[in-house]
This record gives sequence, C-alpha cells and structure tokens, in this order.
Amino acid sequence: MEKMDMLYEGKAKKVYRTQDPSLYIIEYKDDATAFNALKKGTIAGKGVVNNNMTCIIFKMLEDNGIPTHLVNMIDDNHQLVKAVEIVPLEVIVRNIAAGSMSKNLGIEEGMPLKNTVLEFCYKNDELADPLINDTHALALGLATQEEIDVIKKYALKINELLQEFFLKSNLKLIDFKLEFGRCDGKIILADEISPDTCRLWDVNTNRKMDKDRFRRDLGDVEETYQEVLSRISK
Ligand code: TMP
Repeated sequence: MEKMDMLYEGKAKKVYRTQDPSLYIIEYKDDATAFNALKKGTIAGKGVVNNNMTCIIFKMLEDNGIPTHLVNMIDDNHQLVKAVEIVPLEVIVRNIAAGSMSKNLGIEEGMPLKNTVLEFCYKNDELADPLINDTHALALGLATQEEIDVIKKYALKINELLQEFFLKSNLKLIDFKLEFGRCDGKIILADEISPDTCRLWDVNTNRKMDKDRFRRDLGDVEETYQEVLSRISK
C-alpha cells in the first residue's frame, strides 16, 4: 500500500489516503507541541517511538477484545489503519490526580483518586479543547448516547489493560487520552497511545516518563521516550 495525497496534518501526525478508500496511512512526526501549540519543539526519534509503541499497545488491546483502527505497522514511522471518522471527543481517563485536574481543582499532583475519573473534552483547537460532559456532547451532536456508552465501556476496559501492561515495565499509569472513530457504523479505538498521550511515572522513583518532560522543561526528553519504548518492548 502506498501513500497518496495527504488528507490531514495534525500537530504530531500526518494522514494520507491510499489506493484503497477504506485504508489510510499515518505518518508519525518528531514535532511536539504543548499548551495548544503555544510551545513548539522537536523531540528527535519521537515519531519512531510513538509509532512502535502504539502498534505494540493496539495489538495487545485487540487481543483483549478492544477493536482498533490498526491494520499493521509499515515501517518505523508509518502505520496502515482503517479509515475512520474521528469522534470529536478527547476521552481522558485518570487514576491519580495530575495536570489540568490538579490545577483546576487545587489538588496535589500524585494524590490517588477514590475512583477512576473519566472526562470528555470537545476536540476543537480554536477553543483549546474545552472540558465538557455527556449532555454537552449529546446537545452538540458530537456523539449519540449509544456511542457514548460504548466509548465509556471501552475507555474503562482499556484503563485496566493498560495499567497491568505498564506495571510490567515498572511504570505507573497516572492518566491518558484516547480518541475513537466510526468505522462501518461501529466505534473503534483510533489515534495513538504513547508518552505524548499518557502520564507514566516510574514505580520506584515517581520520575516522570512522558511528555511532561517536554511541557515542563525537565530535560532528558529524547532519552526518556527511548527508555519507555525499550521497557515495554522487553
Ligand atoms: P491534562 O491533565 O493536561 O488534561 O492531560 C490529561 C492527559 O491527556 C495526559 O495524559 C496528557 C493527555 N493529553 C493529550 O494527549 N493531549 C492533549 O492535548 C492534552 C492537553 C493532554
């Protein structure tokens, strides 16, 4: 399968059409942004890490009953995926308080939560992806109630599978973001699961092993991305 015209360029990936209208090719870039692209930079090798990591994790999720858009990895920074229509919701799952939740609610980062928190943000760069709830999503026609129910069910199952998966690599899953797509009338997991979209802390030291190193200028960004891929590849 070969790349044809580019359909879409996002902050971290490009999406190309192929000869088959039901399949797209995704190219993972080294470009990094934060704070709705107010901060811009490059993380050398990030595209390769995020592509490889997403492929490993999406295969694991498929094996455990979660349908995903992944068809196969093509090379180090390309993957073949099913064409989907992205549901314009960023689905955030939180196990431990951090990031915007800590900031918005005035709670210390690292505070364990009494239950898993599930958030929806409206995927809209112009509005900086505002936090919304189910009734907003329904009112704006972003998804149907049936779709929201399936998305919540998958998000919670993915959380269980990912926590167990990362723990084997001595990584604690603090929170993460998912995106889903519509394909043949069904909801399937799309986008990526990588250090760009998860907060991962070392179990022994609580060292941040994710994009917060870039967002907060903590240093060793490239090395940390490589370390996460090498840990999960073992
Ligand atoms: P937040 O605490 O900044 O809301 O982020 C929650 C999780 O979502 C965190 O694991 C990082 C991820 N995330 C993205 O993948 N994309 C984004 O644009 C943002 C803001 C967060």
